[in-house]
Parts: sequence; structure tokens; C-alpha cells
Amino acid sequence: MNHSISNLSSSSSLWFNYTCTIFSFIFFTFTFSFSLFSLSIFILRLKLWCKCSTCQSFLTSSWSKDFNNLCDWYTHLLSKSPTGTIHIHILGNIITADPKNVEHILKTKFENYPKGKPFSILLGDLLGKGIFNVDGDSWKFQRKMASLELGSVSIRMHAFNIVKSEIQTRLIPLLNSVSGQVLDLQDVFRRFSFDNICKFSFGFDPCCLELSLPMPASEFAEAFDLASKLSAQRGLSSSSLIWKVKRVLNLGSEKELKSAIKMVDQFAQRMINQRRELGFSDKSDLLSRFMATMIDDDKYLRDIVVSFLLAGRDTVASGLTSFFWLLSQNPKVEFAIRDELEKVTAGFSPSDDQDFVMFDQMREMHYLHAALCESLRLFPPVQLDSKFAQHDDVLPDFTFVRKGTRVTYHPYAMGRMERVWGSDCLEFKPERWLKNGRYVPENPYKYPVFQAGLRVCLGKEMALVEMKCVVLAIIKRFNIQVADPNQAPKFAPGLTATVRGGLPVLVQRREA
Ligand code: HEM
Repeated sequence: MNHSISNLSSSSSLWFNYTCTIFSFIFFTFTFSFSLFSLSIFILRLKLWCKCSTCQSFLTSSWSKDFNNLCDWYTHLLSKSPTGTIHIHILGNIITADPKNVEHILKTKFENYPKGKPFSILLGDLLGKGIFNVDGDSWKFQRKMASLELGSVSIRMHAFNIVKSEIQTRLIPLLNSVSGQVLDLQDVFRRFSFDNICKFSFGFDPCCLELSLPMPASEFAEAFDLASKLSAQRGLSSSSLIWKVKRVLNLGSEKELKSAIKMVDQFAQRMINQRRELGFSDKSDLLSRFMATMIDDDKYLRDIVVSFLLAGRDTVASGLTSFFWLLSQNPKVEFAIRDELEKVTAGFSPSDDQDFVMFDQMREMHYLHAALCESLRLFPPVQLDSKFAQHDDVLPDFTFVRKGTRVTYHPYAMGRMERVWGSDCLEFKPERWLKNGRYVPENPYKYPVFQAGLRVCLGKEMALVEMKCVVLAIIKRFNIQVADPNQAPKFAPGLTATVRGGLPVLVQRREA
């Protein structure tokens, strides 16, 4: 009897499993086919909908015959537009290079132009509810907390010491060891900035810039890179349906993304656990500081810190890479920086902190500051940034914005607009930032390289100090010759400007 009951129950559970599998299969096939069908309709509608030459050029990628990069094509379109604003209809995207519009979006009508759901969904799996990815109260709370932390002198000194140590113990020994050889400077800067931002955010050293230049740089760096790259690639799909379906079915790039994010999560959790075990009140890293402010939700802590990793890593590496590319074409600027360095450090004995320029002396280097601002003007690490209109609106140049439209300001194009920067806009001229030898800041809406207004970058000062330290340490000791200086950069798609193929340079130690 028992035997027959157990037989019966095992055959009915078999039957149940079998039925479930069939239903799941039918469900997924149906969902998948329906999605593909919707997608085809969507693409067909796009093709039929707008016949304007810009949209057709976008759809067929014919712009790539004349331009190296999409941002160069947008720059061309924006400079031809009488208002400095264009509309890519099929993307529902208004793009502007007009400083008045930028001020309107980032300050005057800030509440009407949040980052919006379409953006936060793309990066949501990686960034969660971190500052970079949220609007409203959650953003306000983190902004207040992060501004307090990053504004403090102690954390700025802490960041400066991290950078100084990475330069002295890793960057200079590495460049010394490859003197007379070619190496990829972009790769060096990416490793350098990842070590720095990890030490700053987690108090953890991933050792990416070891002399051996380990490959992969570190497992965590690799997972983090892959996760940011694949999250950004979601935005390139012709319809969000494609990646959403792939995510549900755990296929291809979405499967890879999921496992990369899992590694980032596990790493962050290990860091949080370590702090709980060993204590955090005496530590200066960002994670410890946030833990000390009574945040005890592990997921929230993870999200906050991961946003900082994304914000501070590739941006600095990108800014440094284009700076050295521009310097190789403008040796006069390099001489002028060396000259300024000599003047500022005159009477400075080598024993003073191992001849490292001090924080306060760097403040006196107006030309260096101007040169960096100028380089970021021509090559902003964040080439464009989008918001989504909450309600219908009209921009100061009378462009009508329908509710839900994506509105993009384009720092890369703005840096190359004659009407914004004058007829010499394409020249690398640090002098444009100087008056009587002193640096004079520009209107931030004309130069939104660090964004501007209420959501202006929180790491701007830190980033500039980090970049100055690197520039001074390198040009004081080495000659850097870009292998092919006439080759204009081609950018890889991503959240931050990264040069495809890197920046190969010949490194040569300078005579003492
Ligand atoms: C050259 C280097 C950098 C550039 C060009 C840059 C640029 C930007 C831009 C354009 C934004 C606005 C992004 C958006 O809202 O979509 C931003 C936001 C932000 N940046 Fe930076 N950044 C740099 C370095 C850093 C560093 C080193 C840190 C931190 C250590 C940092 C922290 C942040 C944070 C926390 C935000 C979010 C601010 C908010 O949403 O309220 N940035 N940055």
C-alpha cells in the first residue's frame, strides 16, 4: 500500500515537473517571440517615421563615412544649427550646445529635468540607489552627506596622500623601468586611477599598477570594467526591449553582466564585513565614513560607494590621457608648465617631502590649472549628459520640449563651438583662462565639463589635484612622445571617453 502511494506520489510529482517545464517553455517562447515581434514593429515604425536626413544618417550610420566619432558628427550638426540645438527625432532626443539652455536645464528648471527612469534603469543593476543613479529625496540625502564628507580638509589631505604614494611607489618606478620603451599610457592611467579610487572609497589596494602590469589588472577591476561597459551598452540597443528580454532569459551580454555585478557585490560585501569586524571609526576611507554616519543598510552602503568608483575612475584616466596627447602636439605648453614648476619650487630643498610639490604650492600654479581646464574643454571625459523632461517646456532658444523627451547637453561639442569660444575654439590655448597670469574661471554653463548647477561634480577639486600631481611628476622626470600624434583619437563607446586602442607612447627619462 505504502509502496503504491509512494509510486503514485513520485509519478504525480514527475508529471507535475513535466507539465511545469512545458508551461515554462511555452511561456518563454511566447514572451521571446512577442518581444521580437514588438521589436520588428518598433524598428519598422522608426524607419518609416522620420525621413529627415539627420535621422536617416543616424539609422544607416552613414555619418561614419565623414566623421571618426559620433560626437564629432553631433558637433558638426550643432555648429550648423542656427540655435545650437538639434533634434534627433527617432531617438526622441534634443541635443543642445547653447549655454543658456544648459543653465535652464541644470539650474533654472532643475526640478523639471531629473536623470529620469530611462537612465536609472540602464545603470540600475550596477549602481542601485547610489547618488549617480537617483533623483528626488534619495539624491538630496546622499548629496548632503557626500558634500560634507568630500568638503572636509581631512578627506582632501587623505586623497592627496593616497595619490602621492601611488605616484612615488608605483607610477614613477614603472615609468623608470620602461624608459626607452613604448607603453600604453591610457592603460597606465586607468590602473593608476583605479588603485586610487579603491583606496579612497574602500581603503583597499587592488595593486593594478604593480611593475609587472598584471593582466587582468585585478579580478575586481576586471569585473567592475565589464559591468560598467555592459551597462553602458544597454543604452546602445535600438530598443530597451532587447536587453530586457535577454536579462529575463539570462542570455549573452546580460548573463555576463549579471555575473560581473555579482562579483562587484561580493567584493563590496567583503569590504563592509571587514569594517564591521575590525572597526571603522579610526579609518579615513569613504566607506568607513559613511558607516560611521549610522548607515547600516549594507546594500545602500554598497550602492553609495560603487557610484564613487564609477564617478572617479575613468574620468580622471580619460582627462590625463587626452592631456598628454595634446601636450605632445604643443611642446610650448609643456615648457611653460616646467618653467612654472621651477619658479614655484625655487628655494625648495629636495629633502622637503622628497621633492614632491606640496598642496599649497600647487595652488600657485595658475598656468598648469589653465592647461588642464583647456584640455578638458577640448576633450571632456563625460562628452554628453542627458536628462528627461518631466513636463512640457520651452528652452531659452524657443525649442519646444515635450514631456518625456530626452534633453542632452554636449560639453564635447560646446568646447568646439565658435559661437561659444571664439574663432580659435579648436586651438589648445591655456592662455584663454588667464588674466595677468592668474587663472580666471569661466561661466560653468559655458563649460559644463563637471556638469554645473545643483548636481555639479562633487569630486572636481580632488580630480584636478590628482591630475596636477600626475602631470608634474611625469613631465619633471620624463619625456613622453606619443607614437602617432597626428592620429586624431577614436573613442570607444562607453560612459566615459576612452581612446580605442589606447595611447602608445615612448617614455624617456630626462637628464637630471
Ligand atoms: C576629470 C574628472 C572628472 C570629471 C570630468 C567629472 C565629471 C562629472 C560629471 C559630468 C558629473 C555629472 C554626471 C551626471 O550627473 O550624469 C559628475 C558627477 C559626480 N562626480 Fe565627477 N567628474 C570627475 C571626477 C570625479 C571624482 C574623482 C569623483 C569622486 C571622488 C567624482 C564624484 C562625482 C559624484 C559623486 C557625482 C554625482 C553628483 C550628483 O549627482 O550630485 N567625480 N562628475
